[in-house]
Amino acid sequence: MQPLSHSHRNGFPVPFFGLALVLLVCLDSPTSSCTDQEKSSLLQLLTGLSSDGGLTASWRIDTDCCTWEGITCNQDRIVTDVSLASRGLKGSISPFLGNLTGLLRLNLSQNSLSGGLPLELVSSSSILVLDVSFNCLTGGLSELPSSTPARPLQVLNISSNFFTGRFPSTTWEVMKSLVVLNASTNSFTGQIPTTPCVSAPSFAVLELSFNQLSGNIPPGLGNCLALKLLSAGYNNLNGTLPDELFKVRSLQYISLPNNRLEGALNGIINLTNLVTLDLGKNELSGNIPDSIGELKRLEEIHLGHNNMSGELPSALSNCTNLITVDLKANQFSGELTKVNFVSLSKLRKLDLVFNDFTGTIPESIYSCSKLTALRLSYNHFHGQLSEKIGNLKSLRFLSLVNLSLTNIKRTLQILESSRSLNTLFIGFNFLHETMPEDDSIDGFENLQVLSMSYCSMSGTIPDWLSKLTNLGMLFLQGNQLTGPIPDWISTLNFLFHLDISNNSFTGEISTALAEMPMLKSDKIAAKAFFELPVYVFSPFIQYINAGACPKVLNLAVNKFTGVIPGEMGQLRALVSLNLSYNKLSGEIPQPICNLTNLQMLDLSSNHLTGTILAALNNLHFLSKFNISDNDLEGPIPTVGQLSTFPDSSFDGNPKLCGPMIVNHCGSAEAGPESIISREQIGSKVIFAISFGAFFGVGVLYDQMVLARYFG
Ligand SMILES: *[C@@H]1O[C@H](CO)[C@@H](O)[C@H](O)[C@H]1NC(C)=O
Ligand SMILES: *[C@@H]1O[C@H](CO)[C@@H](O)[C@H](O)[C@H]1NC(C)=O
Ligand SMILES: *[C@@H]1O[C@H](CO)[C@@H](O)[C@H](O)[C@H]1NC(C)=O
Ligand SMILES: *[C@@H]1O[C@H](CO)[C@@H](O)[C@H](O)[C@H]1NC(C)=O
Ligand SMILES: *[C@@H]1O[C@H](CO)[C@@H](O)[C@H](O)[C@H]1NC(C)=O
Ligand SMILES: *[C@@H]1O[C@H](CO)[C@@H](O)[C@H](O)[C@H]1NC(C)=O
Ligand SMILES: *[C@@H]1O[C@H](CO)[C@@H](O)[C@H](O)[C@H]1NC(C)=O
Ligand SMILES: *[C@@H]1O[C@H](CO)[C@@H](O)[C@H](O)[C@H]1NC(C)=O
Ligand SMILES: *[C@@H]1O[C@H](CO)[C@@H](O)[C@H](O)[C@H]1NC(C)=O
Ligand SMILES: *[C@@H]1O[C@H](CO)[C@@H](O)[C@H](O)[C@H]1NC(C)=O
Ligand SMILES: *[C@@H]1O[C@H](CO)[C@@H](O)[C@H](O)[C@H]1NC(C)=O
Ligand SMILES: *[C@@H]1O[C@H](CO)[C@@H](O)[C@H](O)[C@H]1NC(C)=O
Repeated sequence: MQPLSHSHRNGFPVPFFGLALVLLVCLDSPTSSCTDQEKSSLLQLLTGLSSDGGLTASWRIDTDCCTWEGITCNQDRIVTDVSLASRGLKGSISPFLGNLTGLLRLNLSQNSLSGGLPLELVSSSSILVLDVSFNCLTGGLSELPSSTPARPLQVLNISSNFFTGRFPSTTWEVMKSLVVLNASTNSFTGQIPTTPCVSAPSFAVLELSFNQLSGNIPPGLGNCLALKLLSAGYNNLNGTLPDELFKVRSLQYISLPNNRLEGALNGIINLTNLVTLDLGKNELSGNIPDSIGELKRLEEIHLGHNNMSGELPSALSNCTNLITVDLKANQFSGELTKVNFVSLSKLRKLDLVFNDFTGTIPESIYSCSKLTALRLSYNHFHGQLSEKIGNLKSLRFLSLVNLSLTNIKRTLQILESSRSLNTLFIGFNFLHETMPEDDSIDGFENLQVLSMSYCSMSGTIPDWLSKLTNLGMLFLQGNQLTGPIPDWISTLNFLFHLDISNNSFTGEISTALAEMPMLKSDKIAAKAFFELPVYVFSPFIQYINAGACPKVLNLAVNKFTGVIPGEMGQLRALVSLNLSYNKLSGEIPQPICNLTNLQMLDLSSNHLTGTILAALNNLHFLSKFNISDNDLEGPIPTVGQLSTFPDSSFDGNPKLCGPMIVNHCGSAEAGPESIISREQIGSKVIFAISFGAFFGVGVLYDQMVLARYFG
């Protein structure tokens, strides 16, 4: 975001001027000091604090308060600035600060102050800038009597607190100089306030994101003739964007994502000063208007997750300052070739995933040499990847999933020399081709995330993958690969997420897996930030940072035989282990109970025998557990973590017994009976929630049938 300047400096050479003044003051009246009244008003602040961050050492009554830490005075020894941000202050804000009649700026941001914001400060007849952001302040903003004379406040930052209630109206009426109102990240309710639009002719910044505001975007904003920034994302706003908003020609920045706004965007083209437009995750419809080209200053456009449709107008080529174009998850269609990307030479991010675009990938894209992220996945493009993609020297993120691409070998050879590439998703292509195994693939030295899933490719895990020494996540599920897991897997020092499920791998589970360094240690796995949010496990749980993705081993749906190696107990960092649908036999090895970070353990549909280890109850974070369809025997635990899972976790083991299933345990083999305590139920709920947040048991967008993995 562009910082909007609202501080007006005069032309004085400040340091020299200041020095001259100090000399002057010293010569003139060496004993002058701030007044006792100012001193005592300041000291009142300390009395309200339970923790003063060591200020008492400097704030001594026998000294000039102008020399106190955090205090600045003017040449008349009047306190003008109280700057106490990030001081570790706790307690309440004293209303006595309102007695400092010359105070211009009060900054108490980034402390742990609680209680209310004294009206004396908001209504001060001197304060211009009041910043109490990042505290624990509560309560609402009070109404000032409308008879109050005009107040000079220009900047009010109350963001990141716990304020509640509706915005007052009369208070803004007297704030005739207000320029910035920043109330983001609170719990304000009611409507977006518009009073400042009428009462404050210089009102420029309205930042209200992350609150609980509701109703529509008020037409009254049309009176905000100096408004540059309107930000109210992550609220409950609904209705259409009112025509009045499109009269506010001064607007440069509109950010209203994650609301329920609907209707079309046509009027937006009147806002010719617009630099950023973010309307993602709303319910907008209609197309991008033809005259979008009028927005010559536009740098960022985010319209993802809406219901917009139609073709991209060729006029988009006239928005030559575009840096980010995010149109993901809409119903845009038609050929992209209409847009001449040659003129979009500043473009860095282009995200068109989940739309209905057809035709070929336009060649002109390859002239956008600054592109760092390109995601065209899940459209109806066809044709081949062009060699010209090599022109995109800055490309770090490339996602071309499900575009009917063919010739995997050629595709990899085109991409292998893209030295910047760290994330590559090319799954759901190359159907029934053979995984290139020879040494003809070389390069990809910076690749950290590689997905070639759901290609139904035959072959084996190729050796050239062993040279991708930075690889952190490897997705090969949904192919028809055979053979064993190669031993070199443990030489990939950064690999922390391996999914080779739904293939035809055979042999025993390699003990090399048990040596994977990232799974043995708690080290943060990946350094890379994704250029675009990546959705893993379930759509719409987004990962911005690869390091935040869970450590996973998924070998499910293969033909692995033999026992589960006990050595796997070394993979202490593992969060999810899925060995289901194989031909594994023998007992569940005791060391598995050492995997105390596991949130998901699935051993179902194998030939496992023996009893359920009581020590599996050590897996306190487990929220998904499945050992169904094996040949296990003995009692189902009636205490601890395991007792909290449903019958379906244990089904299909005829020799298991327990009070809840048909097969009751004989008294000899029954374990100690116990009633599941409330605490256990409670903890399960908590684990389930944390699992949901982590793995994205997504309900929000379930109506959209999407693949489990995409980038
Ligand atoms: C200082 O402020 C307090 C609280 O706002 C008020 O009660 C008091 O009268 C003021 N004192 C002076 C001297 O202005
Ligand atoms: C208050 O202080 C913090 C920390 O120094 C700073 O980031 C912030 O910009 C200041 N607020 C204003 C309004 O200048
Ligand atoms: C509070 O908001 C003001 C105005 O937007 C800004 O200048 C200041 O830096 C913000 N404070 C912090 C701590 O970010
Ligand atoms: C609002 O304040 C927050 C700090 O609480 C700051 O990060 C943000 O940049 C401010 N927004 C504007 C538009 O000034
Ligand atoms: C907006 O939501 C409110 C409830 O919060 C509802 O009463 C109103 O009808 C909605 N307006 C529109 C245009 O959907
Ligand atoms: C956009 O501007 C044109 C001409 O300036 C005007 O006729 C039209 O009504 C405006 N549209 C909106 C939605 O404000
Ligand atoms: C999305 O738009 C289509 C027409 O383009 C319409 O049929 C559908 O109902 C809309 N869906 C939602 C959720 O608004
Ligand atoms: C781009 O703008 C130029 C002049 O500003 C105009 O002549 C041309 O028609 C526009 N192109 C498109 C595709 O709208
Ligand atoms: C892949 O694309 C085809 C055709 O465009 C579509 O029918 C299919 O559902 C897509 N597959 C997935 C998993 O999205
Ligand atoms: C397994 O992969 C094949 C493609 O090789 C796919 O058609 C099938 O749906 C996948 N099965 C599961 C359960 O994911
Ligand atoms: C383990 O993998 C199988 C096969 O893909 C899948 O059906 C199952 O849901 C997975 N287990 C868990 C707990 O997610
Ligand atoms: C499991 O942990 C216990 C103690 O925490 C240790 O004695 C044992 O050796 C571990 N087993 C394995 C296989 O790591």
